Amino acid sequence: MLQGKKIVLGITGSIAAYKSCLIIRELVKRGAEVQVVITPAGKEFITPITLSALTQKPVVSEFFSQRDGTWNSHVKLGLWADAMLIAPCTASTLGKMAHGVADNMLITTYLSMKAPVFVAPAMDLDMYAHPTTQQNMQMLKGFGNHIIEPQSGFLASGLEGKGRMEEPEKIVAYLERYFAGASATADAADLTGQKILITAGPTYEKIDPVRFIGNYSSGKMGYALAEECARRGAKVTLVSGPVSIKASHPRIQVVSVESCVEMFEAATAVFPSCQAAILCAAVADFRPAEVAAQKIKRVGQTMDIHLVPNPDIAAHLGQMKQPGQVLVGFALETNDEQQNAHHKLEKKNLDFIVLNSLRNAGTCFQSDDNQISIISRTGQHDYERKPKQAVAHDIIDELSRRIH
Ligand code: PMT
Repeated sequence: MLQGKKIVLGITGSIAAYKSCLIIRELVKRGAEVQVVITPAGKEFITPITLSALTQKPVVSEFFSQRDGTWNSHVKLGLWADAMLIAPCTASTLGKMAHGVADNMLITTYLSMKAPVFVAPAMDLDMYAHPTTQQNMQMLKGFGNHIIEPQSGFLASGLEGKGRMEEPEKIVAYLERYFAGASATADAADLTGQKILITAGPTYEKIDPVRFIGNYSSGKMGYALAEECARRGAKVTLVSGPVSIKASHPRIQVVSVESCVEMFEAATAVFPSCQAAILCAAVADFRPAEVAAQKIKRVGQTMDIHLVPNPDIAAHLGQMKQPGQVLVGFALETNDEQQNAHHKLEKKNLDFIVLNSLRNAGTCFQSDDNQISIISRTGQHDYERKPKQAVAHDIIDELSRRIH
């Protein structure tokens, strides 16, 4: 997948800079052509001679070549590349990228880049966790950049392993997967004029003013679907539970909700005017029968919360569905995957269901990747693990075939 691909590799001033040699080696081994652009601080950690020996190309660092004073054109690099990868990327470079501080060759190249940009952050945990860094990363994601980070287990603390640069072979595997699914960019605006409802994220079911029943959904899968639909011309209503990510495409209208009942109300109001709905949200099936008006005090050794069933949004839309409308659900399973997915397909009157399983590590909740099967009444298609953007592309291809 990387054979013949032209990659601009940006290297910044981090101790992880030595790992960029391994990244180059992996890329070159797979037939890619690599052009290194390094920041002045990056050169403190690794010498341009080592890098040019590995890439067989002079390393670009200054605006003017030191040897003969010729202008290094960041614009040409931006047009030449099939992808830009910045690894390692320091907090400082992240900040400059987010705010367009074009004071070195790497940032000017980034700002001129026409190809997709992949960023592998590298910093200590405190810098990583700082709200400034987090906000900068969100901004970069919102601009469509891919952030490649080590995955923490979804049950572990959200910060486990964070800040450390992802391992070189995993970074290269990410690029490979991207290019594998990136026929992703070759399609036309096949959803122009369509209106699509998408649900995303978790629901929070209040227990008292400070506590809720929720789940680990980050919204990444649902938001990737919304961006993909909008990119292909559709108008999207994205009914979203509480998430920290933002939609960036202007054709996406976000309706923010918290609980299942709120999501139900928003989704059922919008569905009649839509050609399709994709229900990606991780919705709580039950909610507390009563919400305490004040914070519940710790009294006694045990505590019971009485739960009542929430509405099943998918099943309800399945009943409302009119001829010509397409309804797509998700099945998040931990066991008996196929059987459960088929059961949900029928019970909720879906046209097809997207199965993902928590048994596949590094997929489903919070991860950047997912591994799905699309199941309908006519058969099943299993896909390999891919970034959620590429997964969204596969799902929307299937949807598009059914709308037309
Ligand atoms: O948000 P991410 O971190 O990117 O993670 C993505 C995801 C794992 C949440 C996503 O890929 C996914 O699997 N979403 C569906 C999760 C889920 O609740 O699955 P389920 O098998 O419990 O529900 C089946 C279907 O019914 C789903 O389409 C769900 O949205 C819908 N449902 C469920 C309950 C309910 N009360 N109303 C519903 O509409």
